[in-house]
Amino acid sequence: MIVGVLKEIKADERRVAMTPAGAAAFVSHGHRVYVQHGAGLGSGFTDQQYRAAGAQVVTSASAVWNRADLVLKVKEPLPSEFKFLRPGLILFTYLHLAAEPQVARVLLKRRVAALGYETVQLEDSSLPLLAPMSEVAGRLAIQVGGWCLEAQNGGAGVLLSGAPGVRPGKVLIIGGGIAGFNACRVAEGVGAQVTILDVNPLRLRYLSDLLSNRAVTVMSNRATLEEEIRQADLVVGTVLVAGARAPRLITRSMVSKMKRGAALVDISIDQGGISETSSPTTHSNPIYIREGVVHYCVTNMPGVVPHTSTYALTNATLSYALEIADHGLLEACDRNPALRSGLNTYNGSVVHPAVADSLGLKAHAPWN
Ligand SMILES: NC(=O)c1ccc[n+]([C@@H]2O[C@H](COP(=O)([O-])OP(=O)(O)OC[C@H]3O[C@@H](n4cnc5c(N)ncnc54)[C@H](O)[C@@H]3O)[C@@H](O)[C@H]2O)c1
Repeated sequence: MIVGVLKEIKADERRVAMTPAGAAAFVSHGHRVYVQHGAGLGSGFTDQQYRAAGAQVVTSASAVWNRADLVLKVKEPLPSEFKFLRPGLILFTYLHLAAEPQVARVLLKRRVAALGYETVQLEDSSLPLLAPMSEVAGRLAIQVGGWCLEAQNGGAGVLLSGAPGVRPGKVLIIGGGIAGFNACRVAEGVGAQVTILDVNPLRLRYLSDLLSNRAVTVMSNRATLEEEIRQADLVVGTVLVAGARAPRLITRSMVSKMKRGAALVDISIDQGGISETSSPTTHSNPIYIREGVVHYCVTNMPGVVPHTSTYALTNATLSYALEIADHGLLEACDRNPALRSGLNTYNGSVVHPAVADSLGLKAHAPWN
């Protein structure tokens, strides 16, 4: 197969979908790899490193899009890339189609076989290609949340760790999955007072065992949410319903009752966000203030730490991408059910049921 790796064009996105070591793995399996000039620079990889790995470096994005059977990316295609989408192309990237209906429509119209990293799902329901970025985003959330609380950013001027004789900040994490747990680890590590809400009793039990007395776990419902939100200095939203739009758990009225200068880091913004007051932002302009609360809603948080993120992402995606290249898309999906759940669109139909639901369409799988 011919595999293409593009330079990401989303605002401030510096990750790349494949490291030089990944390119070498494809070449050793007998595939041809085209890498767009400068694609790896943001993550610290030079064109020369890709050439040394056996890849061909080409100057333009169109040379990659037009030659590749399988395009590997990090973020969803942007409008300026839509013209490259063609029938039969296999696209493997983060898609988040429930929050990106325009992208979904183009993929369907152009009959692209699009797999979303975020919906590749193992038998135990875990999401192995979302997990590494959720780990990064969760850890980052406390770093950026602390920054939002600084006075020059409109925050209340609270230091999460407190100081001798001064109480630490209160961090409320809504959703105790991968991102939530990682946010919790960093928050309790800096000395903040942490509460985690989730709706899954098994997950709450697991977190409670794991975190011992270092964080309080609470069953999430409207009443606890309203109560906890009012007390928090920093709220981190990390709820996920796989493939679906994030539930709007926080109303504008709840935000208006938060402390003045509190912060809301809505990690779930890539699935639409968990607050009525959340709107997507970028790394160049990451925050805004609504109802007196500093909002940070960057949809590609790991993009700001590309070196760590690219390694973490490609460690996880490589084996799946190799499976597609080695066996072809449908056979790879047949061999690996996790990959099958990654297929979002195929030949003009939505394949993933939750994505179809969110878009108000009927799911149709090629293997039925
Ligand atoms: N903004 C970014 O750059 C970025 C980066 C990585 C991940 N994400 C997003 O972060 C979100 C979380 O990802 P994850 O890997 O941690 O998911 P996860 O599946 O591991 O965790 C989600 C958790 O939410 C819980 N949950 C579901 N409904 C809930 C509710 N009503 N109230 C409270 N908890 C609820 C689930 O029980 C689960 O524990 C996803 O939307 C993902 O796309 C965003």
